[in-house]
Order: sequence, then structure tokens, then C-alpha cells
Amino acid sequence: MSTSPLLSDDHRRWQADPLGFWAEQARAIDWIVPPATVLEDEGETWRWFPDGQLNTCALALDHHVDQGRGDQLALIHDSPVTGSQARWTYRELRDEVARLAGAIRSLGVEKGDRVVIYMPMIPEAVMAMLACARLGAVHSVVFGGFAPKELAVRIDDARPTLLLTASCGIEVDRVIAYMPLVREALALSAHPPAHVLVRERSAMPVRLSAPAELDWDTLVARAAPVDPVPVGANDPLYVLYTSGTTGRPKGGVRENGGHAVALRYSMGAVYGARPGDVYWAASDVGWVVGHSYIVYGPLLHGCTTLVYEGKPVRTPDASAFWRVIAEHRVNVFFTAPTAFRAIKKEDPEGRGLAGHDLSSLRTIFLAGERLDPPTLAWLEALVARPVLDHWWQTETGWPMVAYAAGLGAPPVRAGSAGLPVPGYDVRVLREDGSPCEPGEPGDIVVRTPLPPGNLCTLWGDHARFVDSYLRRHPGHYLTSDGGVIDAEGYVTVLGRTDDVINVAGHRLSTGEMEAVVGADPAVAECAVVGIEDGLKGQVPLGFVVLKDGAAVHPQRLEARLVQSVRAEIGPIAALKTVLVVGRLPKTRSGKILRRTLRQMVARADVAVPATIDDPVILREIEAALRARGVGRFGGAG
Ligand code: COA
Ligand code: AMP
Repeated sequence: MSTSPLLSDDHRRWQADPLGFWAEQARAIDWIVPPATVLEDEGETWRWFPDGQLNTCALALDHHVDQGRGDQLALIHDSPVTGSQARWTYRELRDEVARLAGAIRSLGVEKGDRVVIYMPMIPEAVMAMLACARLGAVHSVVFGGFAPKELAVRIDDARPTLLLTASCGIEVDRVIAYMPLVREALALSAHPPAHVLVRERSAMPVRLSAPAELDWDTLVARAAPVDPVPVGANDPLYVLYTSGTTGRPKGGVRENGGHAVALRYSMGAVYGARPGDVYWAASDVGWVVGHSYIVYGPLLHGCTTLVYEGKPVRTPDASAFWRVIAEHRVNVFFTAPTAFRAIKKEDPEGRGLAGHDLSSLRTIFLAGERLDPPTLAWLEALVARPVLDHWWQTETGWPMVAYAAGLGAPPVRAGSAGLPVPGYDVRVLREDGSPCEPGEPGDIVVRTPLPPGNLCTLWGDHARFVDSYLRRHPGHYLTSDGGVIDAEGYVTVLGRTDDVINVAGHRLSTGEMEAVVGADPAVAECAVVGIEDGLKGQVPLGFVVLKDGAAVHPQRLEARLVQSVRAEIGPIAALKTVLVVGRLPKTRSGKILRRTLRQMVARADVAVPATIDDPVILREIEAALRARGVGRFGGAG
């Protein structure tokens, strides 16, 4: 338990009486049946507010209309890629969502059924999530940058009754047809849903080609609005798949009750947001940031949420963020550091700010990957406002460590993500489970039970949840991030300790990429590691050993492997460089030394591991890196 003198009063109150603290937070939401019990804890299974009943969509929409916010803007859509903007008040959004819920119900979707959402950043994606919540159906949003196979894997795990999609996404100036991707995914999946509801966009008309494919607007026009369906606090609100160490993504389950309580709390405590504020998270509904801080958090808190269909650069230029902040009077802004690195690269002097009135903006929050001190310093100097790092994960659903703006944020220390947020008992442990000294790196863990709003199981696989997160250090949740806590309680995240990498704020599994690369007929074995990249934080780098007698030109093989990864995982996997090497460094028992490979790309002084089978291999690897000019020998490939 942290004893930092910098901890907030809320943190101390939570430390002194965790259940009392959460009971108090729970009273701040409008339950259908308020919970009498705060927590049931059975060690590897815990349930927050088990006897409470609520409806998350009602809390996000109807509640505000009932409280007199009906005419306040709930949602602004700003889409530079289509040159359009649109706005909905709370009342309008409630009515649209209620009708969409009616349309979804007319296709047989009821409480507990799953609905997969594969959509671009259009308002209907947000409405779709809320409509599912209204029915008590469990949504599972799949990021639009994933390829059909990834979509199929998620469909087969979630076994949805319905899939919601759109005719296209727009990547800067490229129109990406979704239906061919969806149709391919359905053909690949063993449990395709009975129906696909397609929102046609003017950028791409769609011809529905099977009886299962239905037109969104037609169905919604015919639908009757539905009232929110009461659900139990422990009924799932959504399943969100995220990359793990193996190729199979993990379906984290978020429950309705704890989620509503925790997100509402975080909006004020962490982000310092007030009802009525304009809150903008520039992310995508396919990621957890989108779930928590484009959709649910701002709406549960009575803010106006901004949904942006564009990029930090190229839509049309590096001034896009400043234009949006000024035009919509954004008060709190949240994005990933990579977005600002992209802006800094194109506009290092911040000329794009000129003419944009940022006076509404109070705070910028950054997360999703390490916030590098040069980017922090550049941004602080440019905007002359607090720029606050915070650290969390898909699994936790809301921040674990932050400079909590609503709780009197401690002074910023570049490189550190801040102090533990109330609810999180964050510790750093050695491999043997003993606590690290201040400043000593180790595994960052959180004492269980995790606070409300965190994942509580993996969809259909509680044993995998326990194995993945609770086994390594009993009594603690393993974050799979390494880090340090200093004497004053500041937490610094040093990076993943597993095979997950973070590319432009997107979480990807190198194991999954290895499975694709290793399946190539010319490849005998391979390793994919994350290497540092000035723009994207990390990018993958592949090493392959050819099968004996494989006659393929390395450049042609590289192009083929890059294409395979794009086709099987998606363009966001961003594998661009593959080196053909004679051998891979291994332990005497045959395990590939990925860590050594990673280190060799980054620095010259790599210690030869005691377990290595043949140290000469390292010289061969170094020669290959040098010849290609990769990592410290030139650039990111
Ligand atoms: N649908 C289809 N394709 C997509 C996609 C989507 N939703 N999102 C990304 N892609 C494609 C891109 O078009 C690109 O394709 P390309 O290789 O053919 O050019 C590829 O996937 C890689 O995309 P990305 O990682 O976004 O790189 P980029 O070079 O296009 O842009 C940034 C770099 C930094 C501008 C961009 O990553 C960005 O805006 N990041 C913000 C961070 C963010 O939102 N993180 C989410 C978590 S908070
Ligand atoms: P995701 O589940 O996609 O949100 O990715 C979570 C991972 O991103 C974490 O486990 C970290 O490795 C990384 N991450 C997120 N936020 C930060 C941060 N503020 N500093 C360092 N790493 C971060």
C-alpha cells in the first residue's frame, strides 16, 4: 500500500475504508435497484455491487434528459475525411438510440446476446454500442483496421446473434470497403451471426447480396423505440478483445455496475471534467480508450463527447487537432503520444496553432504508450497548460496511475505516469514475489480484488483469466508491464514484459505476427520483436531463417511476409522490415532469445546471456542489422 505523502485525500479515504469508499461512489449513480452489498470476494472471483440493478444506456442518456440536460449537446461528430459535422442533444441521442435498439431487437437480439460491431468512427458506431447496452445485449467492438481473419476469430469466440457494420471506412483519402472484409470474415467463421446490419455511407453505396444482409436505415425507420432493460450489476456490458502473448486474443469482460460507478468517478477525479464540459478523446471506438472515454465516461458524466473521424496529420494537416479544439470549445483532450509526435514531426514550431483559440482547453491527457519526455516538454511549451500522463490497459478500463486533475495532481515528473489512482493498490514485485525497494525495477502488479470497472473474467474462459493474470503473483493482478515506484510513490512504466508491443498506440502481439510469418513455405523459423521508433513508439521487426533449399530472394520474401501480415492481421500491424539471417540466438534448450535480439537492435553493450547456445550467432545478427541499417545502425527500417 502506497504511503506517499503526495497521495490525494480520496486515496487516503479509499485506503482507510475501501468498501465504504466504493459504496459512496455507487450512491452517485441512478440505480434501478441500489445495491445492498458492495463486494463479494472469493479470491479469484469477485463481484462488485452484486445485487444492484441498472441500465448503462439509461444512465448515459435518459438520466440526463430526466435531470434537465435534454437540450445539451451529447455528441458532436467532426469528420474532416468527409468534410461534415453533425450534432445530437441528449434527447435526440436517446431517441435515436432507442429506435436503433428497437431495430436490433427486431432481429432477435435480447439481453445477454452478443452483437459484434465492426464500424468506422461514425456516430452510428456510438449509437450501436449504446443501443446494445439499452437492450442488455453484450457488444463486442472490433477495430476497423483488423483483417477478416481477426474479425472471424472474435466472431467465433463471442458467437454473436448480429453483426453491425458500415459500407466503408475512410483512411485519409482512401475509401475502404467493409462488406468484402465482413463477408470474408463470415465465410471464415464457424459461428457466423444470423444477420448483418449495414449502415450505407454516401462515400460508398452498397449492394446487399444475401438475405442475412439488411439495410440499417430501412430497419431503423420501421422500428419502434424500446425502453432500457434492467440488468444485474454483474451482467456483462461488453467484451473487448485485446492482444495477449499467444495468437488467441483475450476477450476481457466488463460488467455493467462496476463500470458505470468507476467511469463516472474517473471523469471527475482523474480528468477533472465537469458535467456540461466538452470532452474529446481522439482514439477509436475499437480500443478501450474509445469505449471508456469516447462513449461511456463522458456520457455517464453529462459531458458532450466529440467523435472525430480523422487523423492528427493529413486531414488536412498538422493543425487538425487545434482546429477541432478551438471550433468545438473542447475543455479536456485525451490522445496517445504518437499523435503529438506525428504533429511535432510535421510542425515542430507549432505554426498550426495560429488563429485557433484554445482558451476553452484546460488539460491534455496522454496514454496508451510511454510518454517520452521530449514530446511532453514540446507540448507543454506549446500549449502552456497541464499535459498529464496516465497509465492503464484494456483490462483495467480506467486509469491505474495518473496525475489526477480532479484530486489536486502532484507535480509532473517527466517519464513517470504519476501516482496510483484511488482504488488501485499498485506495487512492484521481484520475480520471487518479494516487494522491490523504491527505485528497483520489477513486475508492476495491483492487489486484488481489482476495483470496480476492471475486467473480472475472460469471455467463456475464467481459467485463462486466472492463469493469465492471477497466477504469477498470487493475490495480485499481473499487469505485464515492468516498472519502478520511487520513494515518493511516483510510478514509472518501463514497458511490457511479455510479447505485446505498442505500435502507434495500438496493442499488438508479436506472437501472432510470428504465427503468420512462420506459416510461409520458405520460413523455417522466425522471431518478431518490437524496436523503438521515433514516431510510432515501437514497430515490429522480423528475423527469419529460411528452410534448407528455399530459393527465394530476400526482398521478395520480405514483400510477401509484409503482405501476409497485412492480410491476416491488418494494416495496423505495421510489419515493414524482415531480415533473413542464418540462425537465431537460442538457449541450450532451444528457446529463442528474443530479449537479446531486442537489445541488440537498440544498443551495442548487450551482455551475452549465460544460457546462449552459440555466442557467435550474435555477431551474425549484428552484421545483418548493420547491413540493413536497422535500429541503432540507421533507423527503424
Ligand atoms: N481501418 C483500416 N485501416 C486502418 C485503420 C482503420 N480503422 N486504422 C489504421 N489503418 C491503416 C492505415 O491506413 C495504415 O495503412 P498503410 O500502411 O496502408 O498506410 C496502417 O493501418 C497503419 O496505421 P497507423 O498505425 O495509424 O499509422 P499511420 O502511419 O497511418 O498514422 C499516426 C500514424 C501516428 C498518425 C496514427 O497512428 C495516429 O493517429 N495515431 C493516434 C493514436 C491513436 O489513436 N491510438 C489509439 C489508442 S489511444
Ligand atoms: P492497451 O490495452 O491497448 O490500452 O495497452 C496497454 C499497454 O499500453 C500497457 O500495458 C502499457 O504497456 C502501455 N501503456 C499504456 N499507457 C501507458 C503510459 N502512460 N505509459 C507507458 N505505457 C503505457
